[in-house]
Amino acid sequence: MTHQFDPAHAERLLDEGRRAWHDPAQVLRHLNLERCTALADVGCGPGWFALEAARRVPPGGRVYAVDLSPEMLALLSRRARAAGLENVLPVLAEEEDEWPVPTGACAAALIANVYHEVDPASMFVGEVKRILEPGGLCLLVDWKPEATPVGPPVSARVAPEDVVAEFTAAGFDYAGPCDVGPYSYGLRFVKPRQ
Ligand SMILES: C[S@@+](CC[C@H](N)C(=O)[O-])C[C@H]1O[C@@H](n2cnc3c(N)ncnc32)[C@H](O)[C@@H]1O
Repeated sequence: MTHQFDPAHAERLLDEGRRAWHDPAQVLRHLNLERCTALADVGCGPGWFALEAARRVPPGGRVYAVDLSPEMLALLSRRARAAGLENVLPVLAEEEDEWPVPTGACAAALIANVYHEVDPASMFVGEVKRILEPGGLCLLVDWKPEATPVGPPVSARVAPEDVVAEFTAAGFDYAGPCDVGPYSYGLRFVKPRQ
């Protein structure tokens, strides 16, 4: 059983203090959003990253905000509306089903603070790969497997080498680590062109 974030605490994900250790600008700069026609923020929660990404994509660009929690998506939608962002598309996902996002629709995907919650036997990695276009970039951010002042219990975290093994086994190319703040690791993957 993986450690699940309680949607009743969604507001905690929007605490401004978070900027010191999960700065959206620092994370999103690795995704080349200025050239991104569509980003999937998978496990978007209330949109800490999704809303900022929606401001950074070029005109006509969109953000598929994918989550399996209706409560999280409701809060995300309210926040996007209040911010006047019409290019955030909430997507309710089922863990055991294909996500309602077209195949190859996304130039990039962000998976932030989600993967440690995902059932390893689920379709998750395969769905990320399906919705990315060939050559599409995936950035995975998760908690370092060591004690940090914030974050889930260390026992619930997933080691970066295990993530790399699982994504490469699913057919992604590993494009190396990147700096996403003091308590997290960032891993970049690319969907092969063929
Ligand atoms: C800790 S929150 C992180 C939210 C956001 N990425 C952030 O960093 O603020 C994890 C989110 O992932 C979602 N989630 C967990 N498993 C998922 C899955 N298999 N597919 C899609 N979303 C999932 C949860 O509902 C929750 O909203």
